[in-house]
Amino acid sequence: MSPKGVAILGSGIFATEALGNAIELKAVYSRSNKSASVFAKDAQDVLKLKHPLDVYHDEDPAASLDALLARSDIVAVIVVLPITVQPGVVLKALAAGKHVLSEKPVAPDVKQGRALIEEYEAKHKPKGLVWRVAENWEAEPGHHAARRVIQEGKIGKVTFYNARVVNYIDENSKWYKTPWRTVPDVSLLHLP
Ligand SMILES: *[C@@H]1O[C@H](CO)[C@@H](O)[C@H](O)[C@H]1NC(C)=O
Repeated sequence: MSPKGVAILGSGIFATEALGNAIELKAVYSRSNKSASVFAKDAQDVLKLKHPLDVYHDEDPAASLDALLARSDIVAVIVVLPITVQPGVVLKALAAGKHVLSEKPVAPDVKQGRALIEEYEAKHKPKGLVWRVAENWEAEPGHHAARRVIQEGKIGKVTFYNARVVNYIDENSKWYKTPWRTVPDVSLLHLP
């Protein structure tokens, strides 16, 4: 079976740093030609791709996101765009018949998150399309081990649990400074 074609939508630091070597990437989309082109070059170097990525961006209507989503050889997309634009892009990709893996959080707020989930469940899931939100904790071996222990009844009936997580985040960390965490949507700023 030939590898499934996948495209990545977004080219920020998550896209550049978190991409493993498990998938066959065919295309990249970013709003600007420059960041999409730089990502395509980096991906070529880092992933040692056999073919260069096809580059899509908003500066050329023939290379738009719609053009990418119209390709039948791309069956899935990974969405790593700023969180405020993600829900719209996730729905656009699902409507185009693509499976979607999108970066967490689901949406910028609970209302939009719920609306997105409802639309997926009603319209796209019944067609067999898979949409997953990339959350690493659900894949942690420790959590899987805990679930097995609970399911097998080894610790009896669980009536209460308390999880406490403490992480050190340096204010100078580039993850702390990502725009979606600092000013997620500039248009929402009400300057005096
Ligand atoms: C996009 O960027 C590439 C690489 O810098 C350049 O060759 C190409 O002409 C640009 N395309 C558009 C539509 O600006």
